[in-house]
Amino acid sequence: MKKILSIILAAFLLTSLAGCGNHSQADSKETQTVTEGQKESAESTSPAEPETMQEETAQEETETASEASSSEAAESEGNTPAAAAHSDILVAYFSATGTTKGVAEKIASVTGGDLYEILPAEPYTSDDLDYNDSSSRSTIEQNDKSVRPEIGSEDISLAGYTTIYLGFPIWWGEEPRILDTFAEKYSFEGITVIPFCTSASSGIGRSGSNMEALAGTGTWLDGMRFDGNVSESDLQSWIEGM
Ligand SMILES: Cc1cc2nc3c(=O)[nH]c(=O)nc-3n(C[C@H](O)[C@H](O)[C@H](O)COP(=O)(O)O)c2cc1C
Repeated sequence: MKKILSIILAAFLLTSLAGCGNHSQADSKETQTVTEGQKESAESTSPAEPETMQEETAQEETETASEASSSEAAESEGNTPAAAAHSDILVAYFSATGTTKGVAEKIASVTGGDLYEILPAEPYTSDDLDYNDSSSRSTIEQNDKSVRPEIGSEDISLAGYTTIYLGFPIWWGEEPRILDTFAEKYSFEGITVIPFCTSASSGIGRSGSNMEALAGTGTWLDGMRFDGNVSESDLQSWIEGM
C-alpha cells in the first residue's frame, strides 16, 4: 500500500513538474510576445505619439512666440495691431528735405501722437527736386495727376487712430503725388485727417480736398501751412483752435 501511494505521489509530482515546465515556457513565450509588442510600440505607436505631441507642443510654442514676436515687431514698427496700446493720434508725413519732418515732430510732441514717415521707395535726389528743370522727376510727377510714386516705408495699420495729422511740402502749389498714393492706399473710415504743409510761401491750396476725393473715406480738413521754424506753442494754439 505504501508502495502504491509512493507511486501515485511520484506520478502526481511528475505531472505537476511537467505542467510547471509547460507553464513556464508559455510564460516566457507570453513575455516575449509582450516584449515584441512593447518593442513594436517602442518603434512605432508609443514614441510616435509623444514625438507628435512634442512636435505639436513645440509648434504651439512656436506659434505663440511668433504671434508675440509679430505683435512686438508690429508695435516697434508703428504698424500696431488694433488691440495694442498706442496713441489715437498719428502724425504721418512726407518730407523731401527735412523741413516738414521738423514740423511733424513738433506736432507729435505737442499732441503725444505717433510718428510715421512716408518714405518714397525711390528716394528723391536733388536733381529730382529741381523745380527749374521742366524734365526733373518732381516736375514730371506734378504735371501728371495720375502718377503714384511707390511708398517704401513699412505699411501702417490705422486701426485705433481717430486723428491723423498729414504733413508734406507744397510742390507746384499742392501735395506731392506720393501723398496721393498714401490717400488711395488706406481706409480713413472714422478718422479725421488734418493736412499740414511747409512751403517757401504758397498756401496749402486744394491739397486737402484733392486727397479727400482720392481717399473717398474719412473727414478731411483743409489744413494749414507753416514755416519750418513754427514754434510748438503756435502749433498748440492752432490745434486748440480747431
Ligand atoms: C519740386 C518742388 C516744388 C516746389 N513748389 C513750391 C511751390 O509751388 N510753392 C512754394 O511756396 N514752395 C514750393 N517749394 C518749396 C517747398 O515747398 C519748401 O521748400 C518745403 O518747405 C520743403 O519741405 P521738405 O523739406 O519737407 O521737403 C517746392 C519745392 C520743390 C522741391
